Amino acid sequence: MLEQLSPLPADPILGLLKAYSQDNNVNKIDLGVGVFKDDAGHTPILACVKTAEQTRTDNELSKIYIGPAGEPEFNTAITQLVFGQHQVILDNRTRTISTPGGTGALRVAGEFIKKCKSNATIWLSNPTWANHNGLFSAAGLTIKEYPYYDYQNKSLDFDGMLATLATVPAGDVVLLHACCHNPSGMDLTKEQWQQVTALAKKNGFIPLIDMAYQGFGLGLDEDAYGPRLMAQELDEVLLCTSCSKNFGLYRERIGGFTLIAKDSATADIANSVLLAVVRSIYSMPPAHGAALVSTILTSDELTAQWHQELAGMRERIATNRQLLVDALKDAGVTRDFSFITRQSGMFSFLGIDKEQVETLAKEYSIYMVGSSRISIAGISKTNVQYLAQSIAAVIK
Ligand code: LMR
Repeated sequence: MLEQLSPLPADPILGLLKAYSQDNNVNKIDLGVGVFKDDAGHTPILACVKTAEQTRTDNELSKIYIGPAGEPEFNTAITQLVFGQHQVILDNRTRTISTPGGTGALRVAGEFIKKCKSNATIWLSNPTWANHNGLFSAAGLTIKEYPYYDYQNKSLDFDGMLATLATVPAGDVVLLHACCHNPSGMDLTKEQWQQVTALAKKNGFIPLIDMAYQGFGLGLDEDAYGPRLMAQELDEVLLCTSCSKNFGLYRERIGGFTLIAKDSATADIANSVLLAVVRSIYSMPPAHGAALVSTILTSDELTAQWHQELAGMRERIATNRQLLVDALKDAGVTRDFSFITRQSGMFSFLGIDKEQVETLAKEYSIYMVGSSRISIAGISKTNVQYLAQSIAAVIK
């Protein structure tokens, strides 16, 4: 059986980790995988996470099975983090489960959608996170695309998006990024969220919101504008969350999947199906990351510390955007890169071609995704000059 297999290329994002670690150039720069880095290029463990970990070690009493939904305290806390004191919670319309990371949440969403509707279609933004395509097709969904990023003008193609979404039939699922669009960094404004929501209400498509970066855009509440609005206006919304970035819990694999139904009784029925889906894939989620997040979110002191650490990460990324644009100017680049400062979250497209991306990797040891997506967190005061000069050399 195994002998018939042909080798597959490395994952377009994760493959960069290996290439970067094997490069001996002391000036190498990692702008590949979306992880937060400090000025020294490290991805630290948050102090609030360290404290929560100590509390957990001291107080954990058993490692008994936790069940397909995971830890209820985490599920409640993460739902409140997204929705606050929202009517949808008071009306008991949400059901949340813990999942193995945001990717696990998306895959569960895909399997759940397939269970609800065997011939389901999901619409993805063009472009979208490189893994969306693979994981929804693996779940057996038909994939279609709506326009999103205008590469020419480095802006949102909202007219194109809306025109295509207007053709989406009732019952199809539309994937939306809550904030910090991966890979373009272009987010919907409040007014644009209102227009998309009105369209969903009128035509009956169902939003699946991918919220992997809450707190990395404008702030925890600001980044939740879209999910809150949709939950208020629509009968059905699906939501995937991740604690990889905002809690820095990447390898602990903790995220959540929330379904919102039109009423509590329907939510209960849908939840029973959801739990059966989980049982047939991985039975139940890992518990460690969930316990850390719920320890933080149920302690006023740790929550305050987390808010501060999260703001620090968010501000550093925003500063890096300006740092790069200024350094490019200083390096003599006349092309306008100011769009980078108008985007949000971890990513932007540099807007250079594949060959130039390859040259940056081969000749300058600067690693980014083939689409020229850069992870802004990989920029620092120390490397930005070398980065800007290398980009200048390659695009001249
Ligand atoms: C990214 O887009 O770089 C991150 O979401 C990490 C990943 O799993 O691809």
